[in-house]
Amino acid sequence: MRLAERKAAVTGGAQGIGEAIARRIAREGADVAILDINPDAAAKTAGAIARETGRKATAVRVDVADEDSVEKAMAEAKAALGGLDLLVNNAGVLKSHFIADFPKKDWDFVLNVNLTGAFLCVKHAARHMIEGKRGSMVVIDSRSGKRGGLWNHAYCASKFGVIGLVQCVALDLAPRGIRINAICPGNALDTPLWKDLAVQYAKKYDETPEQVLERYRKRVPLGRGCDVGDIAGLMVFLASDESSYMTGQAINLTGGEIMSP
Ligand SMILES: NC(=O)c1ccc[n+]([C@@H]2O[C@H](COP(=O)([O-])OP(=O)(O)OC[C@H]3O[C@@H](n4cnc5c(N)ncnc54)[C@H](O)[C@@H]3O)[C@@H](O)[C@H]2O)c1
Repeated sequence: MRLAERKAAVTGGAQGIGEAIARRIAREGADVAILDINPDAAAKTAGAIARETGRKATAVRVDVADEDSVEKAMAEAKAALGGLDLLVNNAGVLKSHFIADFPKKDWDFVLNVNLTGAFLCVKHAARHMIEGKRGSMVVIDSRSGKRGGLWNHAYCASKFGVIGLVQCVALDLAPRGIRINAICPGNALDTPLWKDLAVQYAKKYDETPEQVLERYRKRVPLGRGCDVGDIAGLMVFLASDESSYMTGQAINLTGGEIMSP
């Protein structure tokens, strides 16, 4: 019970990495609000978490790219849980194209959700944490926040940007005792995001999606994709008081891939 009695908002928590994190932090004693653009999936995930863990779990619809929606969702989450002292900023999207063909609408979509969305969620969660005089925030960034990648301009630009945001917010909120850190996972090849990405990449590399996944697996010195459990484990450490002297950091979780050529 490393997060006993914590009140957490998890954006993009309906599926994938966010869902795994929400389940894990509830097992560690936190009450959770699943904030997602897909309310049906969020309600299903929240229901399962409440049944499995006995913790409070609620679903709140949000579009992280829309400030009114974020402001309302954070207030709803706080009201449902009786407080808000942990933000897991996880909602994210990816579009991948060759630079000369990159549609501006896809650039805007990725930047609005990943970078502006992080700004808005951190801003509105901070207001509640400042009021409650405690809190920590963990942002799910990416290996793509540290290294460029083929056809990955918008996603990398958004994830590099989020690391800058995290460093600045850490300085703003340190005097109030509120911490913020980021996790930079490598490729979590078993997630829905990667199933879709493998299809997009199969076209660009003229391979099958399975060949794409295998090639990405082989690039990792530890020989496997990132597991959602790896991310949830680090997440618990960064959310808890075990990391009370850490703020403004962006931790690589890539099986050594960050050093690969
Ligand atoms: N899957 C990976 O390999 C990987 C690796 C590194 C980092 N990440 C990052 O982890 C995070 C989660 O990725 P995932 O693989 O679980 O993705 P996913 O597509 O499985 O889940 C993303 C969730 O975010 C929600 N969402 C999307 N747009 C939203 C919006 N505007 N407002 C609110 N919710 C929205 C979706 O409904 C979905 O539930 C993302 O930030 C992603 O960039 C993923």
